[in-house]
Amino acid sequence: MAEKSVLTPWEVSGDVDYDKLVKEFGTSLISDKIKNKLDKCHPLIRRGLYYSHRDFDKWLEAHEKKKRVSVITGRGPSEKMHLGHLIPFLVAKSLQEEFDCEVFIPISDDEKFYVKPNLSYEDSMKFSYENILDLIALGFKPGKTFIFEDFVYTDIYKYAARIAKRITYSTAKAAFGLVPENNVGWSFYPAMQAAHILFPQFVRGKHISVVPVGIDQDPFIRLTRDVAVYPEFGFDKPAALHSKFFPSLTGGAKMSSSEGIAISLIDTPEEVKKKINKYAFSGGRDTLEEHRKLGGNPDVDVSFQYLKMLFEPDDKKLEKIEADYRSGKLLSGELKQILIDKINVFLKEHQQRREKAKKDIDKFLFKG
Ligand code: TYM
Repeated sequence: MAEKSVLTPWEVSGDVDYDKLVKEFGTSLISDKIKNKLDKCHPLIRRGLYYSHRDFDKWLEAHEKKKRVSVITGRGPSEKMHLGHLIPFLVAKSLQEEFDCEVFIPISDDEKFYVKPNLSYEDSMKFSYENILDLIALGFKPGKTFIFEDFVYTDIYKYAARIAKRITYSTAKAAFGLVPENNVGWSFYPAMQAAHILFPQFVRGKHISVVPVGIDQDPFIRLTRDVAVYPEFGFDKPAALHSKFFPSLTGGAKMSSSEGIAISLIDTPEEVKKKINKYAFSGGRDTLEEHRKLGGNPDVDVSFQYLKMLFEPDDKKLEKIEADYRSGKLLSGELKQILIDKINVFLKEHQQRREKAKKDIDKFLFKG
C-alpha cells in the first residue's frame, strides 16, 4: 500500500506528487522560455530541481524595465544546517549575482521555538547564530544582503501585527492544517512570515520580490499574496520559485535532520565518507559481474542525484559519469567516491568561509 503523504511547512512524509501540487496550489511550471532569460541559469533551475513558480516572469520583466526587484528567503533555525537547506539560498545568491539585487534573509527563531516542543528559547537563538554563519559563508554581497532574526530585530512585530489583523483564524487553520493542540504561537506565526515576505516592500517601497523556497512553503506565499494587495498595503504580489526536495541519503523524499544521517555543513571529511558509503542509496547491481554486464541506474542512485543537483555543475562531466554508470564501466563504490571528494572540497571551503563569517556578521545584519 502506498505510504500516506503529508506536506505542510512543518511536516513532509511519504511520496510527494510534485505535478499534483502544481495543480492543487495553482502555480505554473518553469518553462524553457523563463530558463533562457537567465544568463547564469543555476544548475538547480536548469536541471529541474526548481520546477514551479508564481509570477517569476513578471519579476524578470520588471527587471528588464529597470524597475527595482529583490529576493527574500528565510531559515527557521532549529538545528545545524544540512545540504537540503542550501537549495533556496544558492538560487537567491545566483539571482543576486546576475541581477545585482538586494537579498533579504529573515531568521524565524520564533517559528521553530513554537513548533519544536523540545527546543528552548536559548537554543533557538544559538542555532540562529550558527545558521547565520553558514548563510554568510555562501558568499552573499555585503551591503546588498540583509539578515534579521525575529527575536532580535523586534521591529518586525509592527509589520506582523498589521498583517495579523487581516488574517482570520479559520484562514490560518485551513492553510496550515492547525489543530487544537497547537500552541497559539503557531496561529500567529503565519503573520510573521508574511511580514518577512513583504519586508522588502515595507522598507524599500512597492516593488516585486521573488521568494525561492521548497514547495512546502507555498501556503505562506499564497497567504502573503492575498494580504499584499489589501488597500492599506497596496503592495505588489510577491513572486515565488519552488523547488522539489533534495532527497535523503537513503532515497527518501526529503533530506531532513530527523533521520539523523543528513550531511551537515559542519561535518568532517570522515563523517561525510562514512555516511555516503553506509547510507547513500545505490542504483548499482548486486554483484560486480552483474553491474559490469547490465550497468547501474543513475535515476535512482542518490550519489548521482547529488552530483546532478549540487556537486557537478559541468554538463559534459556529468554526462560522462551518467553514461559510464549506465554502461557498467563505473562502479557504485567509484561513483560514491567521486561524490565524497566533491562534497569534501565544498565543505572544506565552506567551513573556512564560515570561520571568517564570524568577523563579518555585523556587515550583514539589517539595521533599519
Ligand atoms: P526551513 O528552515 O525549514 O528550511 C529553509 C528552506 O529550505 C527548504 N528546504 C529544503 N529544500 C530542498 N530540499 C530539502 N531537503 C529541504 N529542506 C528544507 C525549505 O523549503 C525552506 O525554503 N519557515 C521557513 C523559514 C522562513 C522563510 C521566511 C522562508 C522564515 N521566513 C520567508 C521563506 C520566506 C522554514 O522553516 O524553512
